[in-house]
Amino acid sequence: MVKVAVAGGSGQVAREIIDALLESKKHQITILSRREAPTSTPIASGLHWQFVDYNNKKSLVEALRGTHTLLSFVQTLSDPDQKSQKNLIDACIEAGVKRFAPSEFGSKGTTDMPWLRVKENIREYLEEVNQKGKVLEYTLFQQGFFLDYLAYPYKTSKYLDQLQTIFDFENRRVIVVDGHEDAIMTLTTVADLAKIVARAVDYEGTWPKMSGIRGNRVTFSQIIEIGERIRGRPFTVDKVKVEDLEKGELKTTWNIEAIHHSVFKEQAPAFLKAISIGILLSSLKGAWDISDELNQLFPDFEFTSIEDFLTRIWEGKQ
Ligand SMILES: NC(=O)c1ccc[n+]([C@@H]2O[C@H](COP(=O)([O-])OP(=O)(O)OC[C@H]3O[C@@H](n4cnc5c(N)ncnc54)[C@H](OP(=O)(O)O)[C@@H]3O)[C@@H](O)[C@H]2O)c1
Repeated sequence: MVKVAVAGGSGQVAREIIDALLESKKHQITILSRREAPTSTPIASGLHWQFVDYNNKKSLVEALRGTHTLLSFVQTLSDPDQKSQKNLIDACIEAGVKRFAPSEFGSKGTTDMPWLRVKENIREYLEEVNQKGKVLEYTLFQQGFFLDYLAYPYKTSKYLDQLQTIFDFENRRVIVVDGHEDAIMTLTTVADLAKIVARAVDYEGTWPKMSGIRGNRVTFSQIIEIGERIRGRPFTVDKVKVEDLEKGELKTTWNIEAIHHSVFKEQAPAFLKAISIGILLSSLKGAWDISDELNQLFPDFEFTSIEDFLTRIWEGKQ
């Protein structure tokens, strides 16, 4: 049994992982939050809630004393100067926290996706603090895109809100880069991410720096082929040119409309366009071709296959 603190533990992805951690009944888990514990809904038994001020390093250090593992799910879009996560890292070192996982949970590369630049800064900061000898063991959990999003608008997990993507199974349409249909996407369900992270927390060996999680490694062409088979009709494929994307132009008949709850409404249209362009361009540079360190560490773990998952979701739907 170890003490696990979960920064941003009130959020969507974190709560999926906390449930998996609670299920194993092995650890003492504390949510770190900028808010007081909710009074309307009781928090699960075995789960603790700790109010923290990320701007007050001294109190953060006190809050983290005795913590073995810290998982961060801080919403990076709302921590643009990374003050919260950097203070958290400093406090972990001072409080003697053994292991830290920054708020990653996405792609390997961040080029062409400016909203993810903050994650790169934290990667650099973790390298920097460990430069003169290891002071904090850490790992980057990366699982690619949530496979759950290909079920949009149907909800497939308890906490994660559904988001529309360039793979729009509901309306049988996909956006691809012309001539790059073999670009790779890694698609993993949030449920599998939660189970694997829970296993990594249990793992007593040293964490690898990179914790790639490869649920399904597929090309854009394969996603279209699977979609057409499961949805029973051809998909409309909008083919865009690299040159247009590089100029910031998205010449398509449609674009995604549903946005993450942390994005301000007035920023939504520009952000949605940037997301589609960013995901398409970055996929050509291997950003979503996630490594498989955790598949190798836990070879008996059976990931949910894209075929099984999407067949289950879309069966019998118009
Ligand atoms: N690959 C994918 O498909 C995918 C999809 C979704 C998310 N993600 C990643 O998963 C991680 C968690 O995302 P999420 O959607 O679960 O997040 P979320 O629910 O939007 O937010 C998580 C928590 O962050 C805390 N927070 C917000 N701003 C903060 C700040 N400035 N300082 C400290 N804490 C702050 C909030 O907790 P309190 O208010 O309680 O402090 C919030 O509950 C992110 O790294 C995100 O990029 C990946």
